[in-house]
Amino acid sequence: MQNIWAIQTQAQAGGEDWSAQVRPAAGAMGAYVDGIDLASLDAEAFAEVQRLIHRFKAVMFHGQRSDMAWDAYVDFGAGFGELAVDPYVEPVLPDHPQVMGLIREADTTGYNFGGDWHSDGSYLEQPGGLTILWGRDIPPYGGDTLFTNLELAWHQLSPAYREMLDGRRCLHAATGLGTKAPITRKGDYASVNFDQELSRIEHFHPIKRTHPETGGHSLFVNQAYSVQIEGCTEDESAGILKFLFDWSASPAMTARLSWQPDSILVWDNRTTAHYAIGDYGGFRREMYRLAVTGERPE
Ligand code: SIN
Repeated sequence: MQNIWAIQTQAQAGGEDWSAQVRPAAGAMGAYVDGIDLASLDAEAFAEVQRLIHRFKAVMFHGQRSDMAWDAYVDFGAGFGELAVDPYVEPVLPDHPQVMGLIREADTTGYNFGGDWHSDGSYLEQPGGLTILWGRDIPPYGGDTLFTNLELAWHQLSPAYREMLDGRRCLHAATGLGTKAPITRKGDYASVNFDQELSRIEHFHPIKRTHPETGGHSLFVNQAYSVQIEGCTEDESAGILKFLFDWSASPAMTARLSWQPDSILVWDNRTTAHYAIGDYGGFRREMYRLAVTGERPE
């Protein structure tokens, strides 16, 4: 695997101006936050939560109320924008179709949902913006979510390589390219309606993506769904993508976030890719996901 030795840490990049409730998870990105009740945020606290997400890209809020009402959870998500309803998934909560259940029983074997490097829905015309995940039943160990910072991945490339990619687009497809487990595979994602034609969903997006709120640039490709660089031959594209997938998974660009029961994790798909680690066989894991609709990437 292509690797880098060291990166500028979050502290070097932005100073240490966060409060004592905030614990950075790694040099590259990610943080744990205690003492913020996401079910009762006033406008100022919500703005602080948004600032933390911009700053750390994936933020795990520990200690949320186990009895948080579904309405409150959905309202929290809707504060960030329109919530998507996945047309391919049977809702687990008929009154709250925006809530997707990701439930894996202890005796399930095989592929776990999200067990590839991906940015949520990057094959859509408007890929996911933020994703929110509420961990209700958490294995005693294992089941962490791994992230990589795609802004770092862009900026750590050499100027020559960035110049080659700048202005170029990549095709993202729901079926993926040589992916370990395309979205059409069932795994534990039992509520997907597999009669639908998932394989037809594909869109071109710029490889250098600009964040609409921060103006930051990210390397917007991911192993699960990015299949072909526009204007390159298949062989050229495969070689470049292989390099970029390995590059963006360099350990120094990643953060591994560990769950506690009733943690809520929020991440930004524009600037990160993530990987759900399937290392908790024999234990149950029950999560509830909200997806905030993103913009068309530019
Ligand atoms: C996902 O890929 O959206 C799920 C992440 C996880 O289950 O940790």
